[in-house]
Amino acid sequence: MKRLIIAIDGPAGAGKSTVAKLAAQQLGYTYIDTGAMYRAVAWQVLQAGLEPDNKTVAALAASLDLKLTYVNGKTAVAVNGRDITEAIRTPEVNRLVSRVAQVQALREIMLTLQRGLAAEGGVVMDGRDIGTHVLPNADIKIFLTASISERAQRRWQELTAKGYTLALAELENEIKTRDKADCEREFAPLAAAADAVFIDTTELSIQATVEKILELCKERQECV
Ligand code: CDP
Ligand code: CDP
Repeated sequence: MKRLIIAIDGPAGAGKSTVAKLAAQQLGYTYIDTGAMYRAVAWQVLQAGLEPDNKTVAALAASLDLKLTYVNGKTAVAVNGRDITEAIRTPEVNRLVSRVAQVQALREIMLTLQRGLAAEGGVVMDGRDIGTHVLPNADIKIFLTASISERAQRRWQELTAKGYTLALAELENEIKTRDKADCEREFAPLAAAADAVFIDTTELSIQATVEKILELCKERQECV
């Protein structure tokens, strides 16, 4: 049976990584979290106390030593041999990442890495520009959405469970700002591919969303 390439895009908190991971597990595919790759560079900027201007980010991108591994359903991220899997999920990284992700030189390097990771098929890749730019020939393209209040609530729950104290309204504004930056950037902005299937997860459970994706895979595999 053909090992498909599945692209999942959408705004923050729509459920992309959760459902992508579960769908990959059920299909025996590899899950590739492209957001983690941009987060790793944002973390480097913060760690080194650098200004996130185009020149600095381009220089970091040119010497990027990034390793993404996917073992037993878990993605691990390392930069220069240091494991930063948890460190890239902080509110500070959330605030900086879309600025860093605007830099064209970085996006070009990521594009090459991401296409390389998907080359063999049998992958579920999630991000913002996967169906439109990174994998325009993907077998299945999904655009996941949910209302802004639902997405903010989900992120708030996640962060408070980790011990962060933050106001829901403030988080909602941060997510809106990040979505706007992602949608309006010049290179490979957040957008749905013309042939993407829209799934609104506002009132859809994780399992129901995964089932919809698996159903699309089944239909697709019956045609190839
Ligand atoms: O998990 P969440 O949806 O909050 O974010 P993420 O998927 O980890 O992505 C973090 C950020 O990386 C996004 O807000 C984008 O600025 C950037 N990104 C991107 O530009 N292109 C991608 N393919 C994936 C992420
Ligand atoms: O990757 P993305 O930013 O699109 O979202 P996520 O990190 O997969 O999901 C954000 C949070 O929403 C997680 O805590 C999920 O468990 C939760 N979620 C949910 O409650 N219902 C869904 N249908 C999808 C995700």
